[in-house]
Amino acid sequence: MCGIIGYSGICSVMPKIVNGLSALEYRGYDSAGVAFFEGDRIRTVKSAGRIENLKAALGDLCENENIKCGIGHTRWATHGEPSSRNSHPHGTERVMIVHNGIIENFVELKAFLADKGYSFESETDTEAAAKLIDFFYGESKNAVDAIQRARAMLRGSYAVCALFSGEPNRIYGFRKDNPLLAAPHEDGNFFASDISAVLAHTRRFRRLEENEIAVLDSKNITVLGADGCSVECVFETESRTQDSLEKCGFEHFMLKEIAEEPRVINQTIKSVIKDGLPCFDQGLFVGAEKIHIVACGTAMHAGMLGKYVIERLSGIPVFVELASEFRYRNPILGKGDIVVLISQSGETADTLAALRLAKAEGARTLGIVNVVGSAVAREADNVIYTNAGTEVAVASTKAYSVQLAVLFLLAVDLGHKSGKLEDSAAKAYVEALLKIPDAVEKMFAKKDDCSAIAQKYTNSKSIFFMGRGVDYALSMEAALKMKEVSYIHCEGIAAGEMKHGTISLISEGVPVFVFATDNRLFEKTVSNIKEVRARGARVVLVCNEKMDVPEGIADDIIRIPETEELFATLVAAVPAQLLAYYMSCHLGLDVDKPRNLAKSVTVE
Ligand code: G6P
Repeated sequence: MCGIIGYSGICSVMPKIVNGLSALEYRGYDSAGVAFFEGDRIRTVKSAGRIENLKAALGDLCENENIKCGIGHTRWATHGEPSSRNSHPHGTERVMIVHNGIIENFVELKAFLADKGYSFESETDTEAAAKLIDFFYGESKNAVDAIQRARAMLRGSYAVCALFSGEPNRIYGFRKDNPLLAAPHEDGNFFASDISAVLAHTRRFRRLEENEIAVLDSKNITVLGADGCSVECVFETESRTQDSLEKCGFEHFMLKEIAEEPRVINQTIKSVIKDGLPCFDQGLFVGAEKIHIVACGTAMHAGMLGKYVIERLSGIPVFVELASEFRYRNPILGKGDIVVLISQSGETADTLAALRLAKAEGARTLGIVNVVGSAVAREADNVIYTNAGTEVAVASTKAYSVQLAVLFLLAVDLGHKSGKLEDSAAKAYVEALLKIPDAVEKMFAKKDDCSAIAQKYTNSKSIFFMGRGVDYALSMEAALKMKEVSYIHCEGIAAGEMKHGTISLISEGVPVFVFATDNRLFEKTVSNIKEVRARGARVVLVCNEKMDVPEGIADDIIRIPETEELFATLVAAVPAQLLAYYMSCHLGLDVDKPRNLAKSVTVE
């Protein structure tokens, strides 16, 4: 979703902004723009589409050594089409801002400002916030006062960087519900919505708190508290380096990240094993009566799959829900309930709101999060990090796999602590989990088979994915992955449910990709395959290596290396991801940056 970078220093600003915005591309965007000081005058350049277009619009300005302070933005359209008119920065000759988030009361604010003589050029909510700051700045000529007075009227979420014409080479930043960092460097200082934007220069940063305003120029970063007095500015150090943002010889980040799965799964499993058993700080789950897993997108699909395994091993009931539904449903949470929020980014607006709601209702909360120090990680009572490393491709792959690994480990731990699993059984499951990375590696080695299979289906209008139990949950994720990067309509269906409606869409040649790793349910799934084949479906079957597959049941079979059946979906996720990846490549699409999608969805 939207990205922000700001720089004031002794170097030319444009290369820093353009490179910073490029590093934020992975979040998803559809237009970009910059504002900068030319003397004490603020100028803007904006353009729809990719950063390349912005570079072209900037022309010689890209090289201009005299421009040393500016802010840049990648916009993911919410209010108004992706056009240069709607791209950020927005504002006036006096005040120019870039903004991540949504100003919910922008209609009201526009009416207030129209009354004061303001007119509006864009359809954005941001323009209202910019002009509100301008209005107060006009009254007091004081940037901090203007921000504070405007902030008191803003409803919604925001991370904002602002330039004021009366204060050349200075940038102001403030936030609510969206992250904003101030990062120091010897050649100048940065603002960024995400550390990736500045990793090429510095790994040190200070996260802004919600009531703070930060002011930076080429020499200093000053953070002001709610009372306007400066507060201590202690910097953290990011552990990731710029390398994590490189493709390292792979054609795309998505393929690189699938290839990383054996290593990151292995790392995650080993980091929590002690004396052959998973060792989480499990005070949280003592007396747990129910577990609610709340998440969005791929993370929710990981939760769906985790439910089967946790219930089977621990006997604790698990309810899985989309965060966007949970937050407005008035969920009934009992005293013994644990709410588990799963999120790669830890910044997803709905997941964060669900977490806050769960806490307000008195539930105990656990975040399963990939990004260290993200909002969900900071606000949840407990956190388990998935340690997948930076995921750059918009379509989530390794983060999903590691989320599954954590949920499986949690299932073993809960089963063991609840007494449902004896020591020996729990240890045997851990042994089985430790073998998964090898199996994932072997599966990845069969990537050319997945490419060849995907090639056969490039003309498809729709693809259906089905399975039972854990394979149903995986089918949901496989369908999401495929539609995200191939733009082919896909549906994930519980195999037993096919005949209750969806089968009406099956006709000659329609592809049905079937996941059947749960051997107990294999025969049942075979019956469902027969039903769709009888209606002309072309079937791709993903099943265990040794499974005896009836003759003629599938056009293609992808066999996954032998593993403990309960965890086999972790291996079967690889062909699900590879089929989507290769489909996108064969169709000539931008697999790492699919249209309309954002990596980190910081608005509702
Ligand atoms: C976006 C991303 C998905 C992701 C979902 C939840 O839609 O494109 O890949 O699964 O958000 O994100 P989270 O960061 O909370 O896991």
